Amino acid sequence: MKIAIGSDHGGFELKEIVKPLLEELGHEVQDVGCYSLDSVDYPKQAKEVVSLIRAGKAERGILICGTGIGMSIAANRYPGIRATLCHEPFTAEMSRRHNDSNILCMGGRVIGPGLALEMVKVWLTTPFDGGRHSRRLCQIDKAEEECS
Ligand code: RB5
Repeated sequence: MKIAIGSDHGGFELKEIVKPLLEELGHEVQDVGCYSLDSVDYPKQAKEVVSLIRAGKAERGILICGTGIGMSIAANRYPGIRATLCHEPFTAEMSRRHNDSNILCMGGRVIGPGLALEMVKVWLTTPFDGGRHSRRLCQIDKAEEECS
């Protein structure tokens, strides 16, 4: 799978831990930065990951900032993006099953690497349940009567 990954300085260290795991699992990873602990503004990396997904150049994205909050707010402004902030494997799984998450947001100052790697694995392998959840996702963007 083609995966775009990005972080700010608060998520940089966790991004550097997650990236090799993705590669080991056989994914093609595009890292949009940041590339050091120097302070940067997270909306830039959020926009870059979103753009790759919306252009069809990546199937999924992972965004990491200090809390994951700023990245999820920034990414969810764009149509077609379902960025889900998760802190443990259960929500990571449900974000795929019920919300068809296409961007996983995590907080580098909130969770440790072990938990993050477990979450990433479950998020990458869990399919969307569809059915009533497709209708609900449709209702986020369209009028209720357009969604069956
Ligand atoms: C940066 O200090 C911090 O505000 C950022 O990483 C993130 O947590 C914002 O939501």
